[in-house]
Amino acid sequence: MAYTYLTPQKVLLGEEALTLAKDTWSGFGTKALIVTDAVMVKLGNVDKVTGLLDEIGIAYEIYDGINQEPCDYMIAKGAEIYLQKQCDFLIAIGGGSPIDSMKAIGAVIVLGDNINSFMGKVIDGSFPPMTAVPTTAGTGSEATQFTIINNTEKNIKMLLKGPALLPDLAVIDPVFTMTAPPAVTAATGIDALCHAVEAYTSVKAFSMTDTMAKSAVKRIFDSLYLCYTDGGNMEARIDMAIAALEAGMAFNNSSVTLIHGMSRPIGALYHIPHGLSNAMLMEKCLEFAVDGCPERFRELAQVTGVYETGMTDQEGAAAFLRAVSNLCRSLKIQTLEEFGVDKDDFLSKIDKMAQDALDSKSPGNTRKKPDKEDIIRIYKALFD
Ligand SMILES: NC(=O)c1ccc[n+]([C@@H]2O[C@H](COP(=O)([O-])OP(=O)(O)OC[C@H]3O[C@@H](n4cnc5c(N)ncnc54)[C@H](O)[C@@H]3O)[C@@H](O)[C@H]2O)c1
Ligand SMILES: [Fe+2]
Repeated sequence: MAYTYLTPQKVLLGEEALTLAKDTWSGFGTKALIVTDAVMVKLGNVDKVTGLLDEIGIAYEIYDGINQEPCDYMIAKGAEIYLQKQCDFLIAIGGGSPIDSMKAIGAVIVLGDNINSFMGKVIDGSFPPMTAVPTTAGTGSEATQFTIINNTEKNIKMLLKGPALLPDLAVIDPVFTMTAPPAVTAATGIDALCHAVEAYTSVKAFSMTDTMAKSAVKRIFDSLYLCYTDGGNMEARIDMAIAALEAGMAFNNSSVTLIHGMSRPIGALYHIPHGLSNAMLMEKCLEFAVDGCPERFRELAQVTGVYETGMTDQEGAAAFLRAVSNLCRSLKIQTLEEFGVDKDDFLSKIDKMAQDALDSKSPGNTRKKPDKEDIIRIYKALFD
């Protein structure tokens, strides 16, 4: 069996890594479109990017029209600005939402179609150079060939993919994550944990994704709670930024599974932040998936230090699942009910959500394959 392992072309990593981007940007073009959201402008993060561009004489245009729900019409608007203002490369600064939007804009300006037309297809082409500067330690989008965009015609969060969407430059500067409030830190950190655990227990996992996934799981158990309780803990923030990158590299090459498959439909219908809907699902989905590869879950117990000598695979796996539950509890992850989702409304939409989950193909990567009835049962259990 042979495998492909795709990564961004260049990664800059560490405190103040952004300043190193100047050399690379000089070769990228003469006018950048900066894709971002209003929070990044307010925090002064966009100024840090434009300050560096000014230093090297590169012009820029700022598009800050992205929010937590990147939608088809935002992509069309970004593409229009890029073309109108004659930009020739792209920089995204923000969480996964601006980064995903940048990728989609890059594709649309070259391929010309509405982003919705790429659903179910591999996006391919020669796109302008893309730089991703994540400010959350979560999605790993800076290292993935995916972009997740809301299709407002169909009320679906589309999972779009293609190796050409991988950023050319990923700038992992943990300084940017220091301002993330506890709820964002928790949800995005659990998103990264889901990426790592799903990648490790996916049918497509292989040696290199295993290495990245295990390292990410360890870092997240070591550092996420510290970031949540003390956002100014630089060492923990660095660890989480690396974990998110590693988890992104892992699932980029071995895929996510049941949690993400079931999470996107909830996000599309109830506008729950991506990491939070993953966190709501994580325990129930892992309880289902564990029989498919108890030995892999036991290995994660060893990685996180909760395995005790003499435990069987099943006992070790159960210890890991307990550790996940404890972590979620310590991060005060809300339930659907606490988030304000109406139970009857949720139950009435389960059939569509289960079908959308299956159609995304992510659940099929789980080692214990779920059918529609299994997925419906797990959705229902979220209100038990
Ligand atoms: N492409 C991929 O591989 C991939 C993987 C997982 C998730 N996603 C997608 O990414 C999106 C979620 O991204 P996200 O979880 O990073 O959140 P986000 O980008 O939606 O940001 C969430 C909120 O946090 C704020 N924020 C971000 N960084 C901050 C900081 N440092 N300080 C203060 N506030 C900050 C943002 O302004 C926003 O209000 C979803 O659409 C999800 O589907 C993509
Ligand atoms: Fe995710």
